[in-house]
Amino acid sequence: MQLQRILYGGDYNPEQWLHDPEILARDVEMFKEASINTVSIGMFSWSMLEPNEGEYNLDYLEEIINRLHQNGISTILSTPSAARPKWMSDCYSEVLRVNPFGHRYLFGGRHNHCYTSPVYRSKIRKINTLLAERFGKHPAVILWHISNEYGGECYCPLCQDAFRIWLEKKYTTIDSLNQAWMTTFWSHTYNEFSQIEAPSPLGESMVHGLNLDWKRFISDQTVDFAAWEIQALRDAGSMLPTTTNMMYHFPGIDYDDMANVIDVISWDTYPLWHKMDDIEISMDCGFQHDYFRSLKHQPFLLMESCPGPTNWQGISKLKRPGMIEAMGLHAIAHGSDSILYFQMRQSRGSSEKFHGAVIEHYGKKDARMYREVADLGKDLVELSELIGTTTDASVAIIYDLQNRWALEDSQGPRNDGLFYRENVLKPYRAFKKLGVNVDIISSAQSLDSYQIIIAPMLYMFRADIESRIRSFIHNGGTFVLGTFSGIVNETDLCHLGGTPHELMDVFGLRRTETDGLYEGEKNWITSCEELFVNEPYEVRHLCDLLSTSTAQTLYIYKSEFYSNTAAVTLNQYGDGKAYYIGCDVEQRFYDDFVSHLIARTVVNSAIQGIIPYGIEVNSRSSDSYTYTFIQNFNNHDTSLKQINLKGELMYGTNLDTLAAYQTIIMKTKKNL
Ligand code: GLA
Ligand code: ZN
Repeated sequence: MQLQRILYGGDYNPEQWLHDPEILARDVEMFKEASINTVSIGMFSWSMLEPNEGEYNLDYLEEIINRLHQNGISTILSTPSAARPKWMSDCYSEVLRVNPFGHRYLFGGRHNHCYTSPVYRSKIRKINTLLAERFGKHPAVILWHISNEYGGECYCPLCQDAFRIWLEKKYTTIDSLNQAWMTTFWSHTYNEFSQIEAPSPLGESMVHGLNLDWKRFISDQTVDFAAWEIQALRDAGSMLPTTTNMMYHFPGIDYDDMANVIDVISWDTYPLWHKMDDIEISMDCGFQHDYFRSLKHQPFLLMESCPGPTNWQGISKLKRPGMIEAMGLHAIAHGSDSILYFQMRQSRGSSEKFHGAVIEHYGKKDARMYREVADLGKDLVELSELIGTTTDASVAIIYDLQNRWALEDSQGPRNDGLFYRENVLKPYRAFKKLGVNVDIISSAQSLDSYQIIIAPMLYMFRADIESRIRSFIHNGGTFVLGTFSGIVNETDLCHLGGTPHELMDVFGLRRTETDGLYEGEKNWITSCEELFVNEPYEVRHLCDLLSTSTAQTLYIYKSEFYSNTAAVTLNQYGDGKAYYIGCDVEQRFYDDFVSHLIARTVVNSAIQGIIPYGIEVNSRSSDSYTYTFIQNFNNHDTSLKQINLKGELMYGTNLDTLAAYQTIIMKTKKNL
C-alpha cells in the first residue's frame, strides 16, 4: 500500500448524527484542526445502507465521503458484515448463530452471525458488490476495511455439516481420522464422517484432536468468509487493498491464515495504561505490535486505539497528559504507518456512550483529549518520511496460536495454569530492555533470516518445525527451546520414543519427566561454573527433568529430588548453538541470559550504553537511515546520560532527560 502520509484519524459513525447536519459540519472542521487525514466508516451501517431487504441507500455515504474528501480527508471504507439489520434475522433465522448447547441466539448485539450461512453470504456479497461499484474507484477511498473484528463460533446444522466436509477433506477416510484423534479412547470410534459433532459441553469435549480441529475449522471458516467478502469487491472491479482489524491476544483465528487473504495487517489496541506499571503495559502492547508486524514483515496499521477512557474495561481510566502521544508513537516505533482512534465522535447513547473519543459530548476544541490529539496530529505531519520504513530484526520469538490451543487443552502437567504467554514475554522483555528489535513469529513462518530464535513452551511441533530448527542450528543459528517442548504432534497425539521430538540429538538431551509445581511452590537454579550476582534464579510452575547426552549443563536445580541435575543446557550442533531452558524461570534469569546471548551476536541497535529502566528503544529503517525511537514510559523524568545517541534529533527535545511519556526520534545515516 502506497501512503503519502501517516494515517491519522479513526472510526467515524456519521449515521449516528445524520439528523444533525450542524454536527456533521463541525466534525469536519474539528478534524481539520486536529490534522485528521483519514476516517474509517461503514462498519455498522448495514441498516442504513439496506433499510429493507433489497432497498438500497448509498447516497448518504457518498455525500459524507465527498465532503470529507473535499476537506482533504481520506476514507477507509468498511464492509458492513459485523452487524446486520433486524429484517434479515426475522426473514432468515439461519443467519443467527447457534451456541454449543444447540440454542439459536435472538437478534441483538453484533459479531454474531453464521459464517457458513448461504443467505448471509449472499446478502453480504450483494451489499459489498454495490459498495465496490460505487466507491471502489472513488479517489477518497484508500482501503477496504473488511468487516470488523471477526470472531466467534457457530454450532448450527450448516456449520456442523461444513465441519464434516472440512474433516473429510483433511483426513480422506474415517479410519485415518480415528487414528489421528485416537478415538479408541473411551470407545469413541466413528464409523462415518456424518456421525461427527462439534465439541460441546453437552457431548464430546475430551477428544483433544476433535477440539483442535474444531478450532482450526472455525478459524478457516472465518478466513474463508473474509475471502468471500473480498472476492465480491474484486468481482465488482475494485482493486483497492484490503485489511481487517485484528484483536489483542485473540484465540479464535489463526491470523497467519487471515494474513494470506488480506493485503495490509491492522489491529485494535486497548492497553490498560496507568494500571500500576506503564512499562509492563508498553512491553505487552509492544509485543502485540511486533506480533502483528511480523505477520507480513511489513508496516501495519494501528486501526483503533482509545484517546480517552475505555468504558468496557473494568475501570475507565483517564489517559494522563502525554499518553496519547506516547502510545501513538509507540505504535509507529514498532512499525505502524497509522495512528487511528476509536472513535472520532463520542456516541450519545447505548453501550459506548462513555467510551473515549476525539470529540467528546462537550463538542468543543478546548477539551483536553482533543487538544492532545490535535497536537500530535500537527507533529505527525513532520514524520512522513517514516512511512514504509521497515523493522530489521535478527531475533525472533516463536509464539504460536495452534500451540496455545493445544496447551490450553493439554490436561496436565498444570491445569492451574501453564503461563504460555508469560513464558514468551520474559525473553521478549529481556531483549527490549536492551533495545533490540524482535519479530514474533508462528512455527509455520520461515526461520531463515534470524540469528537468534527463542521458542518457549513449544509443546506442539507442527509445520515440520523439527527439521527447520535442526537446519537453522546446523547452519549457525542460536536456538533456545523452552520447557515442555516438542511433546505432541499436529493432531495432539504424544510423540513416542522421547522428546523433544526428533531433536534429542540436536539439543543433546532427553526430557525424561516434567514436574508441576503447586501454586506458591518454588525451586531455584544456579549455574554450574561461575555464580552471577543475581543467582539463584527462582523457578515456578514447571520443571523438566533432563537426561543429557552431549549437552553441557549450564544451570542445575537446587531443590527437590532432582536437585543438582540439569535445568538449562547448551549443545553445539553443526555451526550453531542449541540451548534448552527446562523450567519456568524468573525474569531476572532471562535478563542475564539474553545479555549473554547478545554479547556474542550482532544486533541492530543504533544506540550504545545502558538503557535506563522504563526507557523503550525501537528502530525502523529505510535504505539509507535508521530511525531510533526512544520513549519514556516512566511517569517521571528519566535521564539518558548513560546512553550515547548517534545522529540527528528528528523529533522531540532535550537529549539528556526525557519527561514522563516523552518520545524522541534519532535519525542516523546507515554505515556505508
Ligand atoms: C472494538 C470495536 C469497535 C469499538 C471498540 C470500543 O475494538 O472494533 O467497534 O466497539 O471496540 O473499544
Ligand atoms: Zn452456523
